[in-house]
Amino acid sequence: MKQVVATVISNKKVMPGAHLVWLDSPGIATEAQPGQFVMVRCGEETVLPRPFSIHQSDGGKLALLFQIVGRGTTWLSRRGNGDGIDIFGPLGNGFSIHPDSQNLLLVAGGIGIAPLHFLAEDALNSGHSVKLLYGTVNEDRYQVAPGIDVVAVTENGSVGEEGMVTDLIADYIEWADQVFACGPVPMYRAMAQIPELEGKPVQISLEVTMGCGRGVCYGCTLKTKQGLKLCCQDGPVFELNEILWDELDY
Ligand code: FES
Repeated sequence: MKQVVATVISNKKVMPGAHLVWLDSPGIATEAQPGQFVMVRCGEETVLPRPFSIHQSDGGKLALLFQIVGRGTTWLSRRGNGDGIDIFGPLGNGFSIHPDSQNLLLVAGGIGIAPLHFLAEDALNSGHSVKLLYGTVNEDRYQVAPGIDVVAVTENGSVGEEGMVTDLIADYIEWADQVFACGPVPMYRAMAQIPELEGKPVQISLEVTMGCGRGVCYGCTLKTKQGLKLCCQDGPVFELNEILWDELDY
């Protein structure tokens, strides 16, 4: 884990309400693994740093893809080229591909595309087959890299199939050796009810409120079947069936 001042290389709006920021941060970028995150100090706007999942890492540069949801993300969306930003990371346990897995099914809900895109590119580079189910409310969607095989789903039917991304999972289960998901908690609750997923290795990335990001404040404690765990240190990636969903206040 490194604490650095990263320099903004570019900052662009990539869809309504969402930005992609590239940072020059060789120390963190070279260590980053898909599913890990960084903590960002958002100027004077917020007392505590904010977690951001790592969206891409390329030659010493690091990308964060995020939705603007409050003061911290608004602050970050307004940084210009050359601005310095205090960040620390990479943090947490990311996704892990089992040695005997070849076919990987990725399930993204909304801005959950952020860490899964990193996983998809990494997995394709290492010779895996990847299928990405990407669900959004409407046509406001992130432009996924051309090499990634995407099945588009929208709640209003404006792009791809109409419905929820979870509706399609059962169709691909037989093909998949492993499933990886990132999205809102209701998506995970729905996945936990899909009978075809029982017995399948399914890793999900949880987004919860974090204070310190490194196991000090206990603000991110979760109830799991193995007892209490810290999202920032034990996660943010967990097995789907490990979390006690009825006990989670999100
Ligand atoms: Fe402080 Fe996890 S955020 S312990």
